Amino acid sequence: MIFEQLNASDCKTYLVASEQTKEAMLVDPLFERAEAYVDELKKRGLTLKYVLDTHVHADHTSGAALLKQRTGATYLMHKASETGCVDQHIDEGDKVALGDVPVSFLHTPGHSQDSVTVLLQDRILTGDFLFLGDSGAGRTDLPGGDAHAHWHALRKLDGLPGALQVFPAHDYHGRASSTLDAERQKNPRFKFANEEEYVGWLNAQSLGPAEWMKDVISANYACAPAKAQAAIPSTKPACEVGGTKGDALMQSVTQITPEAVRMLVDAKKPMHLIDVRELSEWTGELGHIAGARLFPLGELSKAPLKAAPQPEDLIVTVCKAGGRSSNAAMILSAAGFKDVRSMTGGMTAWAALGYPVDRSAT
Ligand SMILES: [Fe+2]
Repeated sequence: MIFEQLNASDCKTYLVASEQTKEAMLVDPLFERAEAYVDELKKRGLTLKYVLDTHVHADHTSGAALLKQRTGATYLMHKASETGCVDQHIDEGDKVALGDVPVSFLHTPGHSQDSVTVLLQDRILTGDFLFLGDSGAGRTDLPGGDAHAHWHALRKLDGLPGALQVFPAHDYHGRASSTLDAERQKNPRFKFANEEEYVGWLNAQSLGPAEWMKDVISANYACAPAKAQAAIPSTKPACEVGGTKGDALMQSVTQITPEAVRMLVDAKKPMHLIDVRELSEWTGELGHIAGARLFPLGELSKAPLKAAPQPEDLIVTVCKAGGRSSNAAMILSAAGFKDVRSMTGGMTAWAALGYPVDRSAT
């Protein structure tokens, strides 16, 4: 059997193939790497027979639809999948073969309703159903997630041999694989005594999906012919429990558009414009908004606004693109200021609108 993980990123794509017949399967391919996979298969003289998504992905656009189109491979997903262009729906116990390499499946829902685990002779590809060690398993608060279902799916591993190697769809900590025995020892998901305890613990940590994840899921359902338009963060452990904690907090920050800020500035409305970038950015190409005060985020986090406005005053935080200013808005809200807004898109958006900037040091 040929078996290899093909990506350098935290998202794993597995190549499984028969040495004898050269028939291959790709598991969880990435959209942006589809052409690279086609080149790799060609170089090795392999024919892509199957392409499989272990579940509908929320953190990246699947390359399965594109690979099916490019190679004529059969696209496999679980029968509960809502993805539109799947050729063959699989279910627990179903079998396919790559020449002399038998492949079968377990239905392991919880992270999503359509999650499957791929069973090979000496290993299992668990998707986001099970991660390695302290990473536990995929979150159950995305659309289709169900903590109860996850508990029952974990029980399906009870009868499997401990020597089986475990290969997940993600590892955000640089690990490649483990064994089922090691997971039974180290993985916190095996430490709960009963379903009630397990579900209570999981649900207590749920923060809900970030907006961008919903866009990615929709694109994957639709077999999108292009990468999802959502801004997908490349290093975020999005499928881990609490992996979008920062996003969920960001969503609670009130935003204000640059156009609205410009109107307030022009109308000389009372407002505290707090620019949280560094001095070099303040005087750099993007400059700053006339009338703003420089208060780098690092200082703000130590002592929010020395010359403090009144708690009811309008405060607008500004940075380069809207990230640091959202953090700043959270800090100021937590410090008791009641009307704090972060300028969407930061000075990059302000400059793109052609609004005036000041580049002086004061
Ligand atoms: Fe996932």
